[in-house]
Amino acid sequence: MTPPRRAARKPPSVPPPGDEPSIPLPSGTKAHPPIGLGLWALGRWTRPDEERTRAVLETAVAEGLRWFDTAEVYGNGRSERLLGEALERSPTLAREGFIATKVSWEHLRAHQVGAALTQSLERLGRTSVDLYLVHAPDPKTPLRETLAALEELWKSGRVGAIGVSNFSLEELSEAVDLLPEAKIAVNQVRFNLFDRGDAEPIRAFCREHRILIEAYTPLARGLLQGRFLDGRKAPPEVRRFAQRFFDGDRWPDYVARARKLKDLADRAGVPMTSLALHWLRSQGAAPVFGASRPEQVAENLAAWRVRPDAALLTEADAIARGERA
Ligand SMILES: NC(=O)c1ccc[n+]([C@@H]2O[C@H](COP(=O)([O-])OP(=O)(O)OC[C@H]3O[C@@H](n4cnc5c(N)ncnc54)[C@H](OP(=O)(O)O)[C@@H]3O)[C@@H](O)[C@H]2O)c1
Repeated sequence: MTPPRRAARKPPSVPPPGDEPSIPLPSGTKAHPPIGLGLWALGRWTRPDEERTRAVLETAVAEGLRWFDTAEVYGNGRSERLLGEALERSPTLAREGFIATKVSWEHLRAHQVGAALTQSLERLGRTSVDLYLVHAPDPKTPLRETLAALEELWKSGRVGAIGVSNFSLEELSEAVDLLPEAKIAVNQVRFNLFDRGDAEPIRAFCREHRILIEAYTPLARGLLQGRFLDGRKAPPEVRRFAQRFFDGDRWPDYVARARKLKDLADRAGVPMTSLALHWLRSQGAAPVFGASRPEQVAENLAAWRVRPDAALLTEADAIARGERA
């Protein structure tokens, strides 16, 4: 028996990203936009890659996006430099942007953190960032040392809010205890419809401590946008960074679930990307997607403007968990 078909209907739409209410951070100087663009996956950073990135940034700014996520390690500073150029070109972005960057796990000693920020700010052409994240912990550097240095930067106003990324629950809990005043405002984690199970205790901790979850890899590298549904294997550079989905025995199962999600989206008359992004929003997370072409930015933001209802998101949730035959 075929399941009853959901009648296609026009879902409600949301305003452009720039006009949407932002999320207040307990200790930050600026509220956090609900969706952002990550500036990591920019190919091999050749000249054509850089040109494409300029176009991606231009489209994102024109579409009203305000949160940009970069890191000192992305392209060895090239990502920050390109964002700096965009900030110079656009007074609106310079005024309204929510600019986030990350200190590398190789620069977490007390004397390195401030120097790393100074270099990032130079590349960005700014005197402060709205959010500064520890990209990942370094087991050889005590957290206490890194966080004391970050707290100084926060007190000086060069950092609007402090966040972490890729921390275990124990590391996160220690960081929260060490920063009672400045606070850990954000935790950036890999989180999407297909990738969530083992991090639930971390998300519960964040809810309890009012730490905003930023969800990276929200589209499972395009699998949740509808790419790869023809069954062809993803290219190596995609597989390298998202092995969970693309490796070995798991791949056919993920493709099968993605096809069901696509069917659900088609029946409801919404883009599949809307399900992926708004499911994250329904979990209290702010998605930071990647894009290597301007068309992808435009498509993803158009999908963001379509808001699936709660019943549809519950159905998507069950399919992604593998609970719907
Ligand atoms: N804290 C960390 O350790 C960490 C780790 C990973 C990522 N991040 C951050 O999170 C950001 C996003 O991560 P991600 O790139 O893994 O996220 P993602 O949004 O799941 O994947 C982005 C990739 O999906 C494809 N894609 C996106 N929109 C598409 C569309 N409309 N049509 C077709 N393909 C589309 C593109 O692949 P192609 O480029 O192949 O076309 C794009 O590069 C990064 O840029 C970075 O800022 C942080």
